[in-house]
Amino acid sequence: MKINWPALRAAAVDVAGRAYAPYSRLRVGAAGLTGDGRIVTGCNVENASFGLTLCAECGLVSALHAAPPADPGGTDYHGANYHGTDYHGAAPALVAVAVVAGDGDPLLPCGRCRQLLLEAGGPALLVDTADGPVSLADLLPAAFGGADLSARRE
Ligand code: THU
Repeated sequence: MKINWPALRAAAVDVAGRAYAPYSRLRVGAAGLTGDGRIVTGCNVENASFGLTLCAECGLVSALHAAPPADPGGTDYHGANYHGTDYHGAAPALVAVAVVAGDGDPLLPCGRCRQLLLEAGGPALLVDTADGPVSLADLLPAAFGGADLSARRE
């Protein structure tokens, strides 16, 4: 599918403007394109108890799951995820993500958010960088995932 990177980055810039980041003063916006052509967004939300801070990608993934699909009967909505079982078979899938800071330039997702994005888009998920799109497989090599649970649980 064709990915409109400028539109995705613009959506990330827009939502970064609504971030709540009074402590770090680093506003972050994330925008993701779904397999069924929707754009979902999230911004970071900080807290006086610093450890409770939500990264922008957390909001994005929550919005991904909360939003209804464009076509509930469509094939894009089912089965395209990186979860290893069909237990979460109704979860939507991300195909591309742009994350920016308040200055409008790309920001690479933190380690925790790379893991979160893996489950929402799989290793082929494309992430916007200053040097162009990079796959999540490159940003998070040798990742732990749902297949490891299936294979290794006792
Ligand atoms: N932050 C994100 O929102 N996403 C990332 O991938 C990196 C960090 C936020 C969390 C916190 O509000 C601020 O940036 C400083 O760490």
